[in-house]
Amino acid sequence: MNLTHKKILLGIAGGIAAYKACELVRRLRDAGADIRVVMTENATRFVTPLTLQALSGNPVRVSLWDEEHEAAMGHIELARWADAILIAPASADMMARLAAGMADDLLSTLCLASEAPLLLAPAMNRVMWAHPATRANAQILLSRGIQLFGPGSGAQACGELGEGRMLEPLELVQRLAVAISPPSNPIGDAALFGKRVVITAGATREAIDPVRFISNRSSGRMGYAVAEAARDAGAEVVLISGVTSLPAPQDVTRIEVETALHMREAVMQAMPCDIFIGTAAVADYRPTETALQKIKKNADTLTLELVKNPDILSEVAALALRPFTVGFAAETEHLLDHARAKLQRKKLDMIAANLVSEGRAFDQADNALTILWGDSQIELPQADKRLLAQQLIQIIAQRVTQRA
Ligand code: PMT
Repeated sequence: MNLTHKKILLGIAGGIAAYKACELVRRLRDAGADIRVVMTENATRFVTPLTLQALSGNPVRVSLWDEEHEAAMGHIELARWADAILIAPASADMMARLAAGMADDLLSTLCLASEAPLLLAPAMNRVMWAHPATRANAQILLSRGIQLFGPGSGAQACGELGEGRMLEPLELVQRLAVAISPPSNPIGDAALFGKRVVITAGATREAIDPVRFISNRSSGRMGYAVAEAARDAGAEVVLISGVTSLPAPQDVTRIEVETALHMREAVMQAMPCDIFIGTAAVADYRPTETALQKIKKNADTLTLELVKNPDILSEVAALALRPFTVGFAAETEHLLDHARAKLQRKKLDMIAANLVSEGRAFDQADNALTILWGDSQIELPQADKRLLAQQLIQIIAQRVTQRA
């Protein structure tokens, strides 16, 4: 965990967890970071600026109307200075104001005026965290690429038990180091230069008649993000896409397909390749027959007979000239057991497992993945799909290099 020479702007919002910010400043300094602290007015009711000034070794800013600092547009300077902004604790109110793009105090103004990565450590009462307004604000923030660290669950300062506790300072420093350290995010450094990567994305449609079909909720977002991350890592990318409203990513060859059989044909034509990543939600079954005309609703019941589709991923993994083969597992329960079983049954090199129950993953801007291979596993916590895709590509690149 190394933050040497990293310029960290620590924002502290008003909440009882503000007391943990003192320990956080110490841990950040231990990791080598240069810290400037900005507090909201409410935060100063929980812990004094003087304490944080002593701990950080730098003056603490609270007001946007500080004549001494603002004579030289101090807030813009601070916004440009930061390598990353971490707000811990991030209260429900802070999250709401950031989601709304407000700039009514120094901290919110800095967040709006900075291009540095913004990372939040939410901390609030469990009911506030579960409230639809907070959930919606969290979604907005995640969709903008802002990372949320936590919250954790357990005993809360208000005496209740549940989700909403701020993560411990040490864990926050670890998460921050992973999120902003160049070695853990080397997508720009051509990690897949010279590799041909074939990726499937989105849902297939299996026609019942000329106007109806069987499909699923996949939007293609995860697969398109993976294609962009592979392209950014220097790979030549072929994206075989089911039906989606997403535009084709630049500098990626997109092949549009509709059914599982079309997808299989396109995948086999795109072989050989170095890496195959199956993010598509391929329909497991298709109607045995497609009616040539629209089926009339004369009968009270209608029985459809379905036949199994080929498993494209297994077929790729079984090729004589086999690429490094990565599957996805979409599960509503027993995530890791089912994913590990798929890893073995389909003879994959790696699988990315995601929970898809209760509105998760499908057609969302964010997701959470557990990456499994051999006996190893890595958790990629809830984040924007573009960030997850970069992390996944980085892990794949490392494994491919180790195997070569
Ligand atoms: O598209 P989004 O809205 O962004 O949502 C992303 C996602 C949830 C679709 C994605 O993250 C995901 O989980 N993709 C895999 C969905 C799926 O079909 O999972 P599965 O567990 O049923 O299939 C396992 C693997 O086999 C997958 O890699 C799948 O592409 C592949 N498969 C499945 C059936 C089949 N006939 N052929 C296949 O290749």
